[in-house]
Amino acid sequence: MPQARRERQKKCCGCIFSLGALALCLWLLFVTTKPTCSIEEFDVFALTKTIPSSSPTGHNNTIYYDLKLKNRNFNKGIYYDTLNLTFYYKPNLVNDFPIGNATFTPFYQGHRKSTHRFGDIEAKGVKWEHITKLAIFRVELATSVRYKHLLWKTKRRRFMVGADLKVNDEGSLVKVKGKKGIKLTSNAKNDIGHFQVLGILGILLFIHSC
Ligand SMILES: *[C@@H]1O[C@H](CO)[C@@H](O)[C@H](O)[C@H]1NC(C)=O
Ligand SMILES: *[C@@H]1O[C@H](CO)[C@@H](O)[C@H](O)[C@H]1NC(C)=O
Ligand SMILES: *[C@@H]1O[C@H](CO)[C@@H](O)[C@H](O)[C@H]1NC(C)=O
Repeated sequence: MPQARRERQKKCCGCIFSLGALALCLWLLFVTTKPTCSIEEFDVFALTKTIPSSSPTGHNNTIYYDLKLKNRNFNKGIYYDTLNLTFYYKPNLVNDFPIGNATFTPFYQGHRKSTHRFGDIEAKGVKWEHITKLAIFRVELATSVRYKHLLWKTKRRRFMVGADLKVNDEGSLVKVKGKKGIKLTSNAKNDIGHFQVLGILGILLFIHSC
C-alpha cells in the first residue's frame, strides 16, 4: 500500500514538473522585452574648442547624435512605427526648451539585432557662452512597436522613453563607466520587466517544491 502511494506521488510529481516546464515554455514563447535604446554619441560642436566656426555668430550650432536601438528578445522581431526624437536644452533644473526634432521611417528589427539612427540638429537659442562646465540636454523618443511571434504579430504598443544627456566642456557626452551610452528609460511605473522575473521565479519555486 505505501509502495503504491509512493509510486502515485512520483507520477504526480513528474506531472507537475511537466506542467511547470510547459508553463515556462509558454512564457518564453509569449513574453516580450521592450527594445533598449541609448544615445551613444552626442557631439556639441559649439563646445568643441578645436572646431573653428563658419557661422556669423561665432558658434557652430550643430549637434551630432547616434541613437542605438537593440532588440533583446531572442525569438521575436520588432516592427517600429514612425519614430520621433525630440531634443531639449535644459539651461537649469526647472526649464527646458526644444532645440530639434527628427523623424525616422518605420522599420523592422530581427531578434537579437542592433541598429543605429544618426543625425544632426541645429540647436538655435542656446547661450553657449553661459555654459561653463556641464551642459544638460534631454532626448525623448516616441513610437509604437509590434512584436513578431512565430506566427502572428502583437497589437501596437506605445513606446516612449527619454533621458537627460550631460555634455562636458569639450562638447562630448558624459558616458556611464567611461564607455557605455546613456540609456533611455520609461517613466511608466508598471514596467513588465519585473513581472517577467517574478513569473520565472514563481515557476522555478513551483518546480522545486514538488
Ligand atoms: C560644425 O562643425 C561640424 C564638425 O566639424 C561640421 O561638420 C559642420 O559643418 C559645422 N557647421 C557649421 C555651421 O559650421
Ligand atoms: C518639433 O516639431 C514640432 C511639431 O512638428 C514643432 O512644433 C516644433 O517647432 C519642432 N521643434 C523644433 C525645435 O524643431
Ligand atoms: C511622430 O510625429 C508625427 C509627425 O510630427 C506624428 O504624426 C506622430 O503621431 C508622432 N508619433 C508618435 C508616436 O508620437
